[in-house]
Amino acid sequence: MKQSDLLDFKLIKGMLSPGSLDRISKLILLGEVDSTNSLVQKELNAGLGPVLVCAADQQTAGRGRSGKIWHSPLSKNIYLSISWEYALPYNKLEGLSLAIGVVVLDFLISYGYPQLKLKWPNDILFGGAKLAGILVEIIGGANSSLKIIVGVGINVKMSAKQGSVIERSWTDLSSISHKPPPSRNELIAKLVDRLIELFLSYPEKGFSYWRDSWNARDSFIGKNAKIISNGETLSGITRGVDSKGRLILDSSEGLLFIAAGDVSLRES
Ligand code: BTN
Repeated sequence: MKQSDLLDFKLIKGMLSPGSLDRISKLILLGEVDSTNSLVQKELNAGLGPVLVCAADQQTAGRGRSGKIWHSPLSKNIYLSISWEYALPYNKLEGLSLAIGVVVLDFLISYGYPQLKLKWPNDILFGGAKLAGILVEIIGGANSSLKIIVGVGINVKMSAKQGSVIERSWTDLSSISHKPPPSRNELIAKLVDRLIELFLSYPEKGFSYWRDSWNARDSFIGKNAKIISNGETLSGITRGVDSKGRLILDSSEGLLFIAAGDVSLRES
């Protein structure tokens, strides 16, 4: 890989907004790491923070939702994590992980990828193929303050060979447009700016501010779907999300409200 294709500390720092630079406690860029989320977690446990930003060119143990692997080859993709601290219990931040999905989606649309959609709770799809995923991890927060770690993986450019190990259908920015993808350094800096704006405004705005945007970008709305949770399958028609970010499933037993967790949503 050419040096110019790698992540560049000075470039990223130079493109962050002054407001973000004021907030960020530490910016960490690595050639290789097990997982940017795990690294941020270790640093938080060591007392660093509260706002840590970590990006890497490659992850050797990238993690997805529900214990899945996030394949993270050295291939110009984005592997980014950012932590934040709230002096609030988690129930005051309902829906935040879905709002993060809207922010990442709108961010990518602003770069000229209008056809992207969401899949509950926060996958980003292009025509059914996964383009980006978000992993939100929470430390503390049952009754008191909490820290969150938000990990974002965006497929920017990955060869068919590198992606051949991924079980579900996937795509990347370079495959969905004729123009070359923007630089990862720029994408990382500008996405960090947007996430920080979201973290700052979320306690006041809450998910009700984001709900309509989420539903307008839902790839499953009105479709027959199955929810698989702990070996149990629920079927129905999806009706978007409610004001808490729960998926509404119109089933033979009436409306069911499903909270994000270890559940998987499939078309049926
Ligand atoms: C998913 O859709 O399953 C979530 C994928 C999240 C992947 C990102 S890549 C950066 C960060 N570090 C990780 O180990 N995972 C997240």
